[in-house]
Amino acid sequence: MTARLSFVLLALWVTAAVPGARAFRSSVSTGCVNDTITVDTETLTLSATCSNGQGGSISSTISLNTCIGNTNGHLTTGENFSDTCIGITSEGFNMLTGSCTTLAGTLVQSSIDIDMAFEDNNGSLTCATS
Ligand SMILES: *[C@@H]1O[C@H](CO)[C@@H](O)[C@H](O)[C@H]1NC(C)=O
Ligand SMILES: *[C@@H]1O[C@H](CO)[C@@H](O)[C@H](O)[C@H]1NC(C)=O
Ligand SMILES: *[C@@H]1O[C@H](CO)[C@@H](O)[C@H](O)[C@H]1NC(C)=O
Repeated sequence: MTARLSFVLLALWVTAAVPGARAFRSSVSTGCVNDTITVDTETLTLSATCSNGQGGSISSTISLNTCIGNTNGHLTTGENFSDTCIGITSEGFNMLTGSCTTLAGTLVQSSIDIDMAFEDNNGSLTCATS
């Protein structure tokens, strides 16, 4: 009983994530300026201008490889997806698409919502914690 309760409390704590951190695109309360959010598939970077939480704004850039990986052919949170994925394109509003190598050595096409991989901490782009 006690062990189970601890587990539930831990789960609640983990899902609460960092206060003030947010997915910067799909969130209605986004602190980032919509028009400035760009995925560059040549340099494999994500850039955005976001509120610094104190009335100003900051532009920041992060490598897509810092927070996106390849898990058996699927784009997931992780690292260095571009080592084993090709044909990376930015599709629609939020999606990054590419063909990634599976453990068996075949190529599979998949997509990831960049909101799943990144978040905005007062203008500093980091890997999503939730
Ligand atoms: C940002 O732009 C997208 C696509 O045009 C739109 O769906 C979304 O509502 C916009 N978000 C904000 C916060 O303006
Ligand atoms: C953002 O900045 C505000 C004001 O300085 C601060 O209260 C808040 O904790 C910050 N949030 C993050 C995620 O750094
Ligand atoms: C990703 O690549 C960087 C730079 O080459 C390297 O330092 C890091 O260990 C790699 N991470 C993984 C999980 O392979």
